[in-house]
Amino acid sequence: MVAISATSIYRSMSQITLQDGTSFEFDGQQVNLLTALEQQKRQVNFHCRAGFCGACRCKLISGSVQYLEEPLAFVRKGEFLPCCSIPQTDLVIEIPE
Ligand code: FES
Repeated sequence: MVAISATSIYRSMSQITLQDGTSFEFDGQQVNLLTALEQQKRQVNFHCRAGFCGACRCKLISGSVQYLEEPLAFVRKGEFLPCCSIPQTDLVIEIPE
């Protein structure tokens, strides 16, 4: 996952499915995945909202995300930071409790 310039970011419609089986559309209008989850009234931990702290870390079960800026927080394989990413494909994700 590589950060690319804002001019080359392609925002498409993607279906986001959560661990409880519910899903919603990321329609490309939301700023990032954290904002999209908050619009769905999903509680996601956060602090910096800019890829620095890692507090928003979620599990990426399937699909891929595109980072709007390269995150400074450590991200393990199978995780992503919703505060600074958008979906590249349909996603299945798990929000830590
Ligand atoms: S809220 Fe800090 S990395 Fe996402």
